[in-house]
Amino acid sequence: MTEKLLSLKNEVRTALAKVGSVHEVNEIKAHYLGKKSPLQGILAKMKDADIEEKKILGKSINEFKNFVEEELSLRLDQIAALEIKKQLKSERVDVTLPGKKFSLGYKHPLTKVTEEIEDIFIGMGYEIAEGPEVESDYFNFELLNLPKGHPAREMQDSFYIDNNYLLRTHTSPVQARTMKLAKGKPVKIICPGKVYRRDNDDATHSHQFMQIEGLVVDKDITMADLKGTLTLLMKNMFGDNLEIRFRPSFFPFTEPSVEVDVTCFKCGGEGCPLCKGSGWIEVLGAGMVHPNVLEMSGYDPNLYQGFAFGLGIERITMLRYGIDDIRYFYLDDPRFLRQF
Ligand code: PHE
Repeated sequence: MTEKLLSLKNEVRTALAKVGSVHEVNEIKAHYLGKKSPLQGILAKMKDADIEEKKILGKSINEFKNFVEEELSLRLDQIAALEIKKQLKSERVDVTLPGKKFSLGYKHPLTKVTEEIEDIFIGMGYEIAEGPEVESDYFNFELLNLPKGHPAREMQDSFYIDNNYLLRTHTSPVQARTMKLAKGKPVKIICPGKVYRRDNDDATHSHQFMQIEGLVVDKDITMADLKGTLTLLMKNMFGDNLEIRFRPSFFPFTEPSVEVDVTCFKCGGEGCPLCKGSGWIEVLGAGMVHPNVLEMSGYDPNLYQGFAFGLGIERITMLRYGIDDIRYFYLDDPRFLRQF
């Protein structure tokens, strides 16, 4: 019997050496330790042995079982090690391959132009003021000399939240707010921000766009200050060789009111398709702050004057870079954005 066990041991060893997977090792386990293993034959014969023989045989059988268990686990360890080796080899990182490219984002052209204009005005001692985009009728219209029912409200139809609140149609309410807060003291601000109008979107109109408005209130402010300030701004934006021209216009919050043109920076004033042959390009609206506006905001119009202007950032950016459709700004297409 002991010889039989010895040869079984050899069998187990040889069989294990041949297999390479966990599944096969388990099959060997079932074969040598399971219900139909050759051990069963030996156990069956134990009945006839005497006590001494039984003791020796029992010991041998236990030893055999331990042996098989140990060999199995040894082989399983080897197989696991081989698997890891194989996996490491297949997952090896080739450090010589080219890396992934991370591209840096770009500043949106509207942000760039806004920041440029802000820098110019900060250089002249202006402060930057901001206000809410959901604005009250009072600040957006009333305080700007546009009482309820005023026909000029037609030009600035908006999106209403309720009877009293709307999406602001211009950044002028920030000027009204600043004057109220200044309590009669001089003011020198620009206010950049998003504004909204009920407009049908096309190449030159958008229901949401950006403005920068400027306001100076002090004693002895004249239209010459307005002209000088805007000339400096436009020269910075479009080049030194341009002139500025005022045309009479109407805004309820300024008197007199003007539309401001600059020499066409494409043809230098000769006339070209960009300026439609006129030699001038309209860039913004401006004027001297209306006495009613000054008074409503706490200033004595006999002592204080002011000038104000408002420009559309999209329009200036489109002119500057020759962009022919305002909708490009809102599409977030990197092919457009990376050009600036
Ligand atoms: N608020 C005006 C608009 O949005 C622009 C403007 C501002 C005109 C200040 C004159 C003075 O149309």
